[in-house]
Amino acid sequence: MEKYVIHGGNRLLGEVTVSGAKNAALAILPAAILSDEPCIIENVPNISDIDYSIKILNHMGVEVKMINHSTLRIDPRKLRHPVVEYDLAKNMRASYYFLGALLGKTKTAKVSLPGGCDLGSRPIDQHLKGFEALGAKVEIDRGMVCLEGDHLLGAKVDFDVVTVGATINIMLAAVKAEGLTILENAAKEPHIVDLANFLNSMGANIIGAGTDVIKIRGVESLHGTQYSVIPDQIEAGTFMVMAAATGGDVLIKNVIPKHLEAVTSKLQKIGAVVEEYDDSIRVVGTGRLEKTTIKTMPHPGFPTDMQPQITTLLTIANGTSMVTESIFDNRFKYVDELRRMGADITVNGKVAVVEGVSRLTGASVKATDLRAGAALIIAGLAASGTTEIEDVFHVERGYENIENKLKGLGADIKKIVTPDSMVLPKVL
Ligand code: EPZ
Repeated sequence: MEKYVIHGGNRLLGEVTVSGAKNAALAILPAAILSDEPCIIENVPNISDIDYSIKILNHMGVEVKMINHSTLRIDPRKLRHPVVEYDLAKNMRASYYFLGALLGKTKTAKVSLPGGCDLGSRPIDQHLKGFEALGAKVEIDRGMVCLEGDHLLGAKVDFDVVTVGATINIMLAAVKAEGLTILENAAKEPHIVDLANFLNSMGANIIGAGTDVIKIRGVESLHGTQYSVIPDQIEAGTFMVMAAATGGDVLIKNVIPKHLEAVTSKLQKIGAVVEEYDDSIRVVGTGRLEKTTIKTMPHPGFPTDMQPQITTLLTIANGTSMVTESIFDNRFKYVDELRRMGADITVNGKVAVVEGVSRLTGASVKATDLRAGAALIIAGLAASGTTEIEDVFHVERGYENIENKLKGLGADIKKIVTPDSMVLPKVL
C-alpha cells in the first residue's frame, strides 16, 4: 500500500508549473480516433487516468507512441475492435467518452458502464438521450452500453441538466453525423472549448463551445492535427489553496487566469493576496483567513472539483462558513477524514457548515476520491504534526508528480510503500 507522510507547518514558497488538463486530455484522446490520420497531442498530463486511456486505445488496435513525457502520437488507422470491456473501463469515468468517439467513427460502440470517483449517483441518461436523438440504437446488456447507428442524423439535443460528460460525448458522436446538431443547455467548462478546438483543428465544424448552445455541422472526414492541451485549472486552483493554507508565497505557472476567476475571487474574499499575470498566478497567504460562503455551480461558477480543497481551507478560517455542493449528491465523504484532524464540520445533505478552528492536527487518514485526496494533502500541509494519507492512488489519477512539485515548494512530504503484510494485526 502506498501512502504520503506529511510533516505540516512549512510555508510553501517558490514556483510550480501546472501540467495539462486531465479532463481535457481525457476527452481529446478518444476524440483522436475520429481522425483518418495520425494526431500529435502535446501537454498531456502524466497521470494514471491517461495511462488507462492509452491502454483502452491500444486494446482497440489504435497505435499510441510517447514522443516525449507529455507528447503522444495517436494513429487510429488500425482501429479494429470498437469495444471497451469492464476491466479497462472500471478505473475511471472518462472511459465513456469512447462511446461517442466510436459511434462517430465506426457507427458502433460497446463500452462497459464507467467507474470513477464515488460522488453519489452518476447516471448517464443524458448521454443515452443524445445518442438516441442522433438516430443510434441504444441497449444496455450485462453492464455494457451498446450503440448502433449506421446513419447518424444531426438533431437538437436539449439537456435536462448541465452535464460536462454528455456535452462531450454527443459532440464526439455528432461531428461526422449528417446535418446540423444543436446542443442546448450545454456545459461551458474550459475543457469543452478545448475539445471543440481540437476537433475543429482536424476539420470539424463546431461553433458556440463555451456557451450553452453548441452547433455542430457534420463533416465527411477529419484529418490529422498537432494540438496542445490547455493547462489544468483544477491543479492550478489546488496549488492556490495550498499557498493560502500554509501562509506561503507561490507563483503558479502555465495557467489561464480566466479559467480560475471563480477560485481567485473566493480566495481573495477569504483573505489571500492573488496577483494575475498573462500565464501565471501568484498567491500569497496572509496568515489571516476569514469565513465565506461557497456554492458549487457549472462553469463559470465555483467548480465542484475545487469544493473539497476550499472547504479544507475554511476549516482554519475565522468564523462559520457554509459550503453547498449543488452538482453531486455526495461529495462530502472526505469530511469524516478531516474531522480526525480536528476540523469542526457538520454536513446536512448538500450543505456543510464549517466552524473555523485555530489549527488542524496531523492524523492517519484515507483518500476517498481524487479531490478528497488533494484536500487531505492541503490539511496535512497546514496541520501541526504528522499526517499519513492512505490510498494515494486516487490522487495520482489526476495530479502529475504532486509529491515532487510540493517538495520543490518546500513541503515536507514523502511517499512510502508498506507491503500490506506489514500492516500489523490490531492488538485486541
Ligand atoms: C466531469 O464529470 C468531470 N470528470 C468531473 O471531474 C467533474 O466534477 C464534473 O464533470 C463536473 O464538472 C471528467 O471530466 C472525467 P457531469 P461528469 O456529467 O461528466 C448529473 C474530477 O475530480 N448527470 O457534468 O460525470 C450528474 O449526476 C472529476 O476531475 C445526470 O443526471 O459530470 C451530476 O449530478 C470528478 N445525467 C451532474 O449531472 C447524465 O447523463 C454533473 O455531472 C450526466 C450527468
